[in-house]
Amino acid sequence: MTQVDIVSLKDNADPAGRLRLPIRDDSGMHVGDLQCIDRSMLDERGLVDDLTTWRNQSMPFFLTQFRATEERTRRWLETISLPAADRILFVICDHGGNRLGNFGLCNIRLGAAEFDNVIRGRASDVRNLMFHCGMTMLEWMFSGLGAETAELHVFSHNEKAIGLYRRLGFAVAESLPLRRTEKEGTVKYSLVDRPDANAGFDYLRMELPRESFRQVHPAALPTG
Ligand SMILES: CC(C)(COP(=O)(O)OP(=O)(O)OC[C@H]1O[C@@H](n2cnc3c(N)ncnc32)[C@H](O)[C@@H]1OP(=O)(O)O)[C@@H](O)C(=O)NCCC(=O)NCCS
Repeated sequence: MTQVDIVSLKDNADPAGRLRLPIRDDSGMHVGDLQCIDRSMLDERGLVDDLTTWRNQSMPFFLTQFRATEERTRRWLETISLPAADRILFVICDHGGNRLGNFGLCNIRLGAAEFDNVIRGRASDVRNLMFHCGMTMLEWMFSGLGAETAELHVFSHNEKAIGLYRRLGFAVAESLPLRRTEKEGTVKYSLVDRPDANAGFDYLRMELPRESFRQVHPAALPTG
């Protein structure tokens, strides 16, 4: 890894040149795209509002919990998300260009990358949408980025997310203790030694090696 220059993908300022990963349903039908949030997308009407709303509605499922505002989301996009060489965020769009959620990667490094910021924002007619988005992302990680292992972290009580990740083929590799702290309206969960844990749930690290993905979903990756 990596055959792809992540920063220049996000630097793109021409909507026609945007990275779009096709989302396909079980029958192979193209049902939408994962569209990379790049410079050409930043000023799209309603984008920052959607990302902010979705983050607020999903706040309990993330390590750092705060009140998201449009200003804070925009600042995060411009100063952290877009310039980072090790992360990328996509918007889930249907054929009509309607935004349905977001799906990202972080900790992109030699041989591996992690799912990040996986959020279902609004309803659609596409059944199992998040599963198909996960498949699209995994195919890109293994084929496009050249990853050998896909990883993610999830709270051990987040049954919906864990169910989705298991269907994709992920298995729990580690269960890590967490400590909750609160300061100035922000709740933070941090990794600690077991005796210092107070959260009441753990942080699961899940893994999916490329070969296991190929075995679970034989049609997904080209052989060779
Ligand atoms: C984890 C998550 C992405 C899984 O999504 P999922 O695979 O669609 O599974 P859910 O059980 O949530 O959804 C079941 C159905 O409810 C509906 N649904 C889910 N979230 C919805 C939303 N925000 N608005 C409208 N409908 C929704 C969908 O129709 C879905 O059915 P479908 O897959 O056939 O379209 C989703 O539950 C979510 O966004 N959770 C909050 C954020 C989160 O926990 N992220 C993971 C952090 S590690």
